[in-house]
Amino acid sequence: CATVTYDFDIGWTYANPDGQQTRPVIGVNGQWPVPPIVATKGDRVVVNVKNSLGNESTSLHFHGLYQNGTTHMDGPVAVSQCGILPGSSFTYNFTVDQPGSYWWHSHERGQYPDGLRAPLIVHDSEDPFQDQYDEEIVLTLSDWYHGRMQDLLKGFINIANPSGAEPVPQAALMNDTQNLGIKVQPGKTYLFRLINMGAFAAHYVWFEEHMMRVVEVDGVYTEPTEAEMLYVTAAQRYSVLVTAKNDSSANFAVVGSMDQDLFDAVPEGLNPNVTGWLVYDDTKPKPAPKEIEAFEPFDDYNLVPYDKEQLLDRVDHSITLDMKMDNLRDGANYAFFNGVSYVSPKVPTLYSVLSTGANATNPIIYGSNTNSFVLGANEVVEIVLNNDDPGKHPFHLHGHAFQVVTRSEDDAGFYDPSNVTALPASPMKRDTVLVRPNGHIVLRFRADNPGVWLFHCHLEWHVASGLTATMIESPLDVQQQLSGKIPADHLKVCDAGDVPTAGNAAG
Ligand code: C2O
Repeated sequence: CATVTYDFDIGWTYANPDGQQTRPVIGVNGQWPVPPIVATKGDRVVVNVKNSLGNESTSLHFHGLYQNGTTHMDGPVAVSQCGILPGSSFTYNFTVDQPGSYWWHSHERGQYPDGLRAPLIVHDSEDPFQDQYDEEIVLTLSDWYHGRMQDLLKGFINIANPSGAEPVPQAALMNDTQNLGIKVQPGKTYLFRLINMGAFAAHYVWFEEHMMRVVEVDGVYTEPTEAEMLYVTAAQRYSVLVTAKNDSSANFAVVGSMDQDLFDAVPEGLNPNVTGWLVYDDTKPKPAPKEIEAFEPFDDYNLVPYDKEQLLDRVDHSITLDMKMDNLRDGANYAFFNGVSYVSPKVPTLYSVLSTGANATNPIIYGSNTNSFVLGANEVVEIVLNNDDPGKHPFHLHGHAFQVVTRSEDDAGFYDPSNVTALPASPMKRDTVLVRPNGHIVLRFRADNPGVWLFHCHLEWHVASGLTATMIESPLDVQQQLSGKIPADHLKVCDAGDVPTAGNAAG
């Protein structure tokens, strides 16, 4: 195994990826788009960060990686580290034992939609599908705003926006452009790694006149399953095999279409689509996509993991999270789990674990606004999430992929176990899952990864409005693994005192 090292000098630059407006974006080493991280299973990854933003703290999260034994490298500010102050440096150093499609992004308040996000790909010499494709192509999707996040957030959490209407993006991007030509050769098969790096919009995705075969979701290999259209929420990934036609007489549109159900009001003139093309022949036209009558995406609940991992059927620890959006006394709209809107603690939660000895197993020490749950070693944990809100929300758990045991349709109301007839034998497993409007999901995982792991809605607006819980997994094991091992550069950014970070002010 090798060590792959990246030096990221993070600073402001300018870009105009949608051709409509040049805006300040967060770049790396003076460049935007920012570079992907590419490794092979078993590798050590080292990312040396220097914060040259001048006006904002930062941090990096490696979305989907378990960080087994390295929870202090997970990235969320006020959870596993302090924000990296302007002018400071900080090194992430961890090994990757999971193959597949991931992404890295800032985990400082509201920051990644300003551009600080990119794919993270882990190659695998034992990839069970490697003989079935000729080439791999990474295809990112994203929404795009013309405003800066810190400005947009001020208007979002505001007495003047009591309904909590989220800002609507100005455009959609594919590989950070609206002009993507993908060269393909007749008869070849391609592995497309689809990654939604957006802040808000889910994308319907399809390849005109080409079938997809899904072989991976969120880093989990799946039984190959055909799909004509996928629904990819913010933070989800799919690998699909697509075989090119045997003749090159035409080119075909590849479409990402933002789900406008998420938008409270659709501004006039918004083009929800981004189109790329499978280019068989450069000299032939790139056709506009055909009108779609109804979106009928493939249901990811039907996917089966390639290793057929069985349902975890004996639950040791059940957690119910009732979520809703509502106003606090300041008149602004916030998001709540069980009546509590997450507020960042002053001391990162991991550091509280490390400094409290045997008391670390008592959730009260983590404060009343962190939605903290302490998990025992190797318990089978079940999270029941009841969505008491008419919106769609993609939920993400750090440190694990979970089994999606149940997912209701729209308007099914709260979960009632007495209504459940059969559970899947080998449930779909992933790290980010959609809960439908006024519906529910039931997730399970084994607490086999000591650490402090967030569970949150991945809509960046809802992270800001407090839709976050904290899983404190085997805290005494975390103490054993990490006490005295937090690197000096990690501690130093805390000593310096942080600038205001994630969470909300009202509490
Ligand atoms: Cu993709 Cu908490 O993050």
